[in-house]
Amino acid sequence: MSDKTRTARVPCDIKDIGLADRGALRTEWAGRNMPVLGMIGDRFEEEKPLDGVRISACLHVTSETANLMITLVRGGADVALCASNPLSTQDDVAAHLVRDHGVQVYAIKGEDDDTYYEHIRAALAHEPQVTMDDGADVVGALHMIGLERYDDLHPVVRAWATSLGEAERQRIVKGVKASTEETTTGVIRLKSMEKSGVLLFPVIAVNDSSTKHLFDNRYGTGQSTIDGVLRATNVLLAGSTVVVAGYGWCGKGVAKRAQGQGAHVVVTEVDPLKALEAVMDGHRVMPMAEAAKIGDVFITVTGDIHVIREPHFEAMKDGAIVANSGHFNVEIDLDVLAEMADSRRAVREFVEEYTLGEKKIFVLGEGRLINLAAAEGHPASVMDMSFANQSLAAEHIVTRPDELTEGVQPVPEPIDRRIAALKLRSLGVEIDELTPEQARYLASWEMGT
Ligand SMILES: NC(=O)c1ccc[n+]([C@@H]2O[C@H](COP(=O)([O-])OP(=O)(O)OC[C@H]3O[C@@H](n4cnc5c(N)ncnc54)[C@H](O)[C@@H]3O)[C@@H](O)[C@H]2O)c1
Repeated sequence: MSDKTRTARVPCDIKDIGLADRGALRTEWAGRNMPVLGMIGDRFEEEKPLDGVRISACLHVTSETANLMITLVRGGADVALCASNPLSTQDDVAAHLVRDHGVQVYAIKGEDDDTYYEHIRAALAHEPQVTMDDGADVVGALHMIGLERYDDLHPVVRAWATSLGEAERQRIVKGVKASTEETTTGVIRLKSMEKSGVLLFPVIAVNDSSTKHLFDNRYGTGQSTIDGVLRATNVLLAGSTVVVAGYGWCGKGVAKRAQGQGAHVVVTEVDPLKALEAVMDGHRVMPMAEAAKIGDVFITVTGDIHVIREPHFEAMKDGAIVANSGHFNVEIDLDVLAEMADSRRAVREFVEEYTLGEKKIFVLGEGRLINLAAAEGHPASVMDMSFANQSLAAEHIVTRPDELTEGVQPVPEPIDRRIAALKLRSLGVEIDELTPEQARYLASWEMGT
């Protein structure tokens, strides 16, 4: 614990508890646009569905996440929170959660790899009954321990896990009733674990809720990614060529917002259906090898590895800007770029210049999620729905364990629909109801033919 956190009343590792006032204001500001989560919090406070339940969350430590943590605490949970990305932590928000809500926070913006994993270790040492992941790092580590694959653990977690007795290790792994997963990449990893027959407990794929990916991935990533690129560079997008790699939920959002700023959007894809959709949405589609020659700004959102690599860097124009908004920092092959470069230097916050002979290539935010590294992540209004899913999924796990099936499963549909209805209500939007005649018509095959 650093000098600046000694007055904290719960175990934590944060930058400076003195930042808590600013974090409180920021959290309150986000909360204004999270009415659905607020309603859930009011009910949780009365009913205490999570009374005494230990939850370890590994999420981006932002003001929106703070509102989720506060909702869980209002429901009676005992919460530990670590970062799901070394650059996404808002240090003032972390301080507020520790000082004012008794959440054990282990997250410091810009933490190195060892500290990142030390924080994951601390979240595991909380002995959670429920875990919440954004990218499956906590569940991944738990499984490596449960499966005794210690060599696959980061050295910091490995040293801790192997220092524990067998009974203690089993208690930690078997203590987890179920988990929730926030993002596409995490869900893909968990489904792969399920397919390999190694998944040890049920996982609710929050990302698969309609009220999550249709809004958070598309509108949230769309807006905040462009925001991150602009905050880092302040370039004019109008008239420039923006290459978007991946036309899934996030890519569609990024492409649409870039188009809205007046950019010529080029999409690269590997899936013919998604590529066709991009064409019909009015974008040019081509392989990255071609796009590399004409792009001014490149944004990867595929969840894949090395989408931009050596031949693409070779083909790029002088001054090309390269950023990533997919979950992990592997979409741009930065190791190869470093090998290709004669020199590199930081030229602005979140902008690194690589010199390759006569030309310069600029990489934003070390290739990590640019919307969280250089901007503030998704707007609260979409996180309202994502985190309503998280809080109701946690309640579902605790109060209806018999309804959980094995493996990766969606948030129950009635919850998804209830969140959509509550969000509409909070926006003051009313919709029609089926008349009895319409309900009968839609349920029958004889009527009206
Ligand atoms: N930045 C954020 O805040 C944020 C928010 C949500 C999700 N994510 C992450 O963004 C990534 C994408 O999420 P999504 O929900 O859009 O997923 P998705 O599955 O809907 O879309 C990914 C798309 O990338 C395409 N793709 C895969 N490999 C490719 C390649 N080599 N070249 C071109 N296209 C390729 C796929 O065909 C697919 O259409 C994931 O890593 C996810 O975890 C980030």
